[in-house]
Amino acid sequence: MSEPELVVRFTEEDAARELRTEVRVGLTDSPKWLSPKWFYDAVGSDLFDQITVLPEYYQTRAEQQILQQRALEVAEITGAATLVELGSGSSEKTRLLLDALRKNETLERFVPLDVSGSALRAAVESIALDYPELHVRGVVDDFTSGLSALNAGAKRLVAFLGGTIGNLLPAERARFFAAVRAALRPGEWLLLGTDLVKDPDRLVRAYDDARGVTAEFNRNVLRVLNRELGADFEPENFRHVALWNAEHEWIEMRLRAQRPMRVGLPELGLTADFAEGEEIRTEVSAKFRHDRVRDELAVAGFELHRWWLDDAADFALSLAAAR
Ligand code: AVJ
Repeated sequence: MSEPELVVRFTEEDAARELRTEVRVGLTDSPKWLSPKWFYDAVGSDLFDQITVLPEYYQTRAEQQILQQRALEVAEITGAATLVELGSGSSEKTRLLLDALRKNETLERFVPLDVSGSALRAAVESIALDYPELHVRGVVDDFTSGLSALNAGAKRLVAFLGGTIGNLLPAERARFFAAVRAALRPGEWLLLGTDLVKDPDRLVRAYDDARGVTAEFNRNVLRVLNRELGADFEPENFRHVALWNAEHEWIEMRLRAQRPMRVGLPELGLTADFAEGEEIRTEVSAKFRHDRVRDELAVAGFELHRWWLDDAADFALSLAAAR
C-alpha cells in the first residue's frame, strides 16, 4: 500500500478568520443570515448523519440507489483514472464509485477534498486500507475555492454528490460550475447530485422532521458561534423554520427569535439585536429540474451526457462532459 497523502490548504486559522468575517457581515445585514457551512462542527456533523437516515429525508437513500444502479455505467462511460470528490465525507457513496471504477480497471488516483481536516484524515486512511493499489491524496480545502488542487491526475471525474450544490445561491453556483470547468480539460467529467422540485409539503417535511433532528441541526449553528466567537445566543429561544420559496424553488431554513433579544459577540466587538419574530436565514437548499441543470452546466461549458433518477424520481444524478 502506498501511504495516503494529506495536503492542507485551508487551515483552522483560515476557517476561524472566514467565520469571523462572514458572521460580521451576515448578522449586520438585513435580513440577517449565516452561511450553512458553519453547521458542521462535530455535533453538527453527527446531527447531519442522523438526518440522512430520517424517514422524511429521502435524498441520501435516493442518491445511493441511483449510484448502486449506475456506478458501473459511470465507470464505463468515463473510463476515469482519477476520481476527485468535492466535499467528500459520504464515504459509502464514494465506495460505490471506487468499486465500479476499480472493476473497470481504469482507476489510479483518488483525490477527496473537504474543509474538515479531521473527517478527511479518517476517510483517507480507511480508503487507503481498503484500496491498497490506489494513490490517495486528501486535500483540505473549501470546495468553492480549492479547485486548483484538481490539477493532479489524468482522465478526471469530479464528483459533487449529496445535493450540496443546492446550498449555493445562483450566482455562486455559476461561479462554482465555471471554476470546475476551468480546472478540467475537454472530455473530462463532472458527476453531480441534485435534489428535484417536488410537492412542497414533502420538501418542507424533509427539512422539518417530526423528531426535531433538523431543528437541532439548525440551532447548532448558534452553539458554534457561542463557542468560536464567545457569543451568548440562547439557542432554545430561537424557533426552527423551514419554508418553500416557490419563486426561487428552494427550501430556506431560518431561526426565528421568540422574543426580543440582545446577543453579544465580544470577539467581534459586535452586538446583534433581535426583534420578536426576527429571523436569521441559515440555509438555502435549491431544488432542480432537468432543464435548469442542463442549461446551467451548458453556460459553464459542460454538456449533459446522462440524467439518472431514482425509482421515485425524487433525486437526479447528472453526468456531464467538459466541452
Ligand atoms: C447536505 C446540503 C445536501 O441541503 O439537504 C439537511 C443539508 N440541511 N437538512 C440539504 C441539510 C437540512 C443538506 N445538504
